Amino acid sequence: MRIDILSVLPELLESPLQHSIMKRAQEKGFLEVHIHQLRQWAVNEYGQVDDYQYGGGAGMVMMCEPLAKAIESLSKERKPARPGDRGGYDEVIFLTPDGEMLNQKMANAISLKENLLIVCGHYKGIDERIREHFVTKEISIGDYVLSGGELAAAVLVDTIGRLIPGVLNDETSALTDSFQDNLLAPPVYTRPEDFRGWKVPEALMSGNHKLIDEWKYEQSLARTKERRPDLLKEKE
Ligand code: ADE
Repeated sequence: MRIDILSVLPELLESPLQHSIMKRAQEKGFLEVHIHQLRQWAVNEYGQVDDYQYGGGAGMVMMCEPLAKAIESLSKERKPARPGDRGGYDEVIFLTPDGEMLNQKMANAISLKENLLIVCGHYKGIDERIREHFVTKEISIGDYVLSGGELAAAVLVDTIGRLIPGVLNDETSALTDSFQDNLLAPPVYTRPEDFRGWKVPEALMSGNHKLIDEWKYEQSLARTKERRPDLLKEKE
C-alpha cells in the first residue's frame, strides 16, 4: 500500500511512523508513506496556504488553490497499476472531527486499498469546495478536537498499516486484537506465574488449547458486556 500525506507540519508525522511495526512495514516493502509539505503549492512566496473566512469568524481556513493543485499533481503521479485501473488514488481522505468515526471495520476495509491520499487540516478547516470536489472519505478519530489532522493521520496510518497482510510477524495477532469480531481482547499474562501472590488464571496454565480458547472467549465476552455493550448489539 502507498500512502501520501499532505500537511503543513510534516515533522509531526515523521516520528510516529518511523518506529516499531510501522518502521518494519516500510522496511519490508508492505507500506510506503510519503509526506508532502503543502506549502510547496502555496499561493505566494511567503508560503501562504490559508486565509480569512468569508462571513467573518475566528480562525483561518486552508485555501482551495494550494490543496487543489497538490491533490491534482499527486494524483497524476499515481498511474494505473494494471489494465482497467483508473489511476489516481483509491481514496482521498480528509481528517476532521465531523467525519465518520474511525473503527476497526472501517480500518479493515481501508487496509485493502492500494493508494491513499490523506489531507491534514489545520486552523478552522479547509475550504468546503475541496471537500465537495476532491475528498472521497472524511474520517474522525474521536469526539474531541485536535489542533490539526497530523496526529489523527498518524493514528489512521498505524491502524491500517498493521492490518496489511504480512506486516505483523504472527498474522493471527491482528485477528485477535480488540474490536475484530466486535469483541474486546481478553486479559493477557506473562512470567512469572505467581507475582506477589497474584496468580495467572489456571485455565491458561492447563496446556489444554480447547480450554484456553474457551476461557479467552468467555473473558472477551464478559469484558465486552461490562465495558462496551454497544459492540455486542452491533454484533447481533
Ligand atoms: N482534526 C482535528 N480533530 C480531529 C479529530 N478528532 N479527528 C480527525 N481529525 C481531526
